[in-house]
Amino acid sequence: MDLLVVGSGFFGLTIAERAAEAGRKVTVIDRRHHIGGNAYSEAEPETGIEVHRYGAHLFHTSNATVWEYVNRFTSFTNYVHRVYTTHKGTVFPMPVNLGTINQFFQSAYTPDQARALVKEQAGEFDAKTAANFEEKGIALVGRPLFEAFFRDYTAKQWQTDPHKLSGDIISRLPVRYTYDNRYFNDTWEGLPIDGYTAWIERMADHPNIDVKLDVDYFDEAQPLNKKATVGQLPVVYTGPVDRYFDYTEGALSWRTLDFEQEVLNVGDFQGTSVMNYPDMDVPYTRIHEFKHFHPERKDIYESDKTVIMREFSRFATREDEPYYPVNTPTDREGLLAYRELAKGEKDVHFGGRLGTYQYLDMHMAIGSALSLWNNTLS
Ligand code: FAD
Ligand code: NA
Repeated sequence: MDLLVVGSGFFGLTIAERAAEAGRKVTVIDRRHHIGGNAYSEAEPETGIEVHRYGAHLFHTSNATVWEYVNRFTSFTNYVHRVYTTHKGTVFPMPVNLGTINQFFQSAYTPDQARALVKEQAGEFDAKTAANFEEKGIALVGRPLFEAFFRDYTAKQWQTDPHKLSGDIISRLPVRYTYDNRYFNDTWEGLPIDGYTAWIERMADHPNIDVKLDVDYFDEAQPLNKKATVGQLPVVYTGPVDRYFDYTEGALSWRTLDFEQEVLNVGDFQGTSVMNYPDMDVPYTRIHEFKHFHPERKDIYESDKTVIMREFSRFATREDEPYYPVNTPTDREGLLAYRELAKGEKDVHFGGRLGTYQYLDMHMAIGSALSLWNNTLS
């Protein structure tokens, strides 16, 4: 074995694939029972509908190198992501755009009129001196839009009373003064034609790659554990950086998500893939309906059933899946301390969203793995 990769998400698999192509013998371990990290998806058994096990994953990128690379393993559909939101019993398009504004104020503002209105409403506070999350939000988009579409939705994401949230969690709030409600602005966008798992499996399908599942790197009963491997061969580690150092500099904080999945005996539950719920009286933040990610499969999927997933958001405990870094000032200090420790680890390369404590989209994880390979490991 020439290289050990801990974690089979997109970061780890990209390193493994590049190394295998270059003739190295690579072993990839993952503590889960499947490869692919959080991008993993599987067919819901009753309906066959592809469900993204760790939350909806939409691929998008403007990075030509990454786009060329991922197309070696899968083709993409022409799916274009759009999101809607149900506020006080009415559906509005997201992100907040001219359509949202005109529907909300029951008006027909031009872009300039809408801009002037929001500017006037935002004048209630100054973003530079705003004392908290509410004042900051109002300073950015004005009170009516902030309260309807941002305040309670954000508070639900953080499971925190909006009055207790810090203004630091928002630096800008997206408002568009056109009717464009395309969610992503990237050059390329789409979903893998035969699913995420087929894509991921093709990356790992190489005679030089050996995958071992249900193996935790910190389990000393396993031969490929931390003690037995560090210093013996190059290691790419994509698990949580604080866990690697046994939390000596404190546990970094994360938000997690809880998902409630349901199979319904209706052909179409909500007419779109993602519906947000920004109001406090609804406990979940959004509902995903997976068949809408693949309209081209409509003859394959049953027409009288659908799969929905309600998403709830909260702070993670150590037992939960870490999803989004909270990034408090304490977290940032801890991260700097862990980065110093990481420099002292002989031939261990920390990468991916857990290894660097950073939210990374898939194309960013793949792009940064390609850089690590090209600049350091190859
Ligand atoms: P991961 O996919 O998390 O992989 C890390 C792997 O390491 C896991 O498989 C884990 O089991 C393994 N591991 C951890 N500790 C150990 C250990 N001790 N021993 C062995 N193995 C271990 N990106 C997009 O581009 N579009 C989206 O729409 C999108 N939506 C997302 C929605 C959610 C809810 C989340 C959380 C992420 C989303 N992402 C999205 C981001 C995407 O999931 C990441 O870019 C991708 O997962 C990064 O890959 P990674 O390899 O860094 O980490
Ligand atoms: Na997402």
